[in-house]
Amino acid sequence: MSATPFVLAAENLTKKFNANTVIENLSIGFESGMLHSILGPNGAGKTTLFNLLTRDLPVSGGEILLRGEKITGLKPHQIARRGVGRSYQISSVYLDLSFHQNVWLAAYRKEKNGGTGFWRSVGAYKKIGETAARLLDTLGLAEFSDVPAKATSYGDQRLLEIAVTLATDPEILLLDEPTAGLSQKETERIKNFIQSIKSKYTIIMIEHKMNVVMEISDRIHVMNRGALIASGTAAEIARNEAVHSAYFGL
Ligand SMILES: Nc1ncnc2c1ncn2[C@@H]1O[C@H](COP(=O)(O)OP(=O)(O)OP(=O)(O)O)[C@@H](O)[C@H]1O
Ligand SMILES: [Mg+2]
Repeated sequence: MSATPFVLAAENLTKKFNANTVIENLSIGFESGMLHSILGPNGAGKTTLFNLLTRDLPVSGGEILLRGEKITGLKPHQIARRGVGRSYQISSVYLDLSFHQNVWLAAYRKEKNGGTGFWRSVGAYKKIGETAARLLDTLGLAEFSDVPAKATSYGDQRLLEIAVTLATDPEILLLDEPTAGLSQKETERIKNFIQSIKSKYTIIMIEHKMNVVMEISDRIHVMNRGALIASGTAAEIARNEAVHSAYFGL
């Protein structure tokens, strides 16, 4: 057991792309069971931080800790198997597949990579199918079950992407701008959904829309130029001067 209060943390994280240092000596911790938002101007390093946490990119320096254990050198699927699920800033669903097929595939891969052999057992396919149907139902997407993703709105595709991520049965959910490119109404729908699942997961969400962030976050972390400049509650962040000057340009 570790003394760290954080389910996921980064210590002295650095990321360089050739001579360009985009994350510098960043330490950040995420408490379990909370909804964390990450704010920051374009290019602040938010998506890069996600890429390092999930090992989509290797770190240049520092450590990543999951439940107090170093996972810095693990491969992405090993991190996913330990309960870290992620959705991407640019939608990554299979446009030619139906909603059901997209979610089914994610649930199937999870079972297959889990190493339990469950996917080979009698009834496994039925169970995976039921999981997919249940998730689509939960997200209000059941009507699109047999519809190819490309035939639906971008808002529905973003929700599908969340369903695909949930199908991997994560404990920690990383969402990269889940409302990007959505109308106010669609944004509201995603916000409400995230709020409705908040008690079941530790959620870390990169989000630019201030009303979404302020309404549903338990903790807000603000990044600027590859560094963490503030962490706190919505009220604390709202009155933080460093945040005002860096983020709002005031
Ligand atoms: N694979 C890469 N190769 C080279 N440079 C990169 C790479 N990925 C990101 N960068 C650079 O790192 C910096 C941070 O980018 P990042 O995508 O993390 O920002 P962000 O905070 O997510 O911004 P946004 O709000 O626009 O999504 C930018 O200057 C970007 O150009
Ligand atoms: Mg980004």
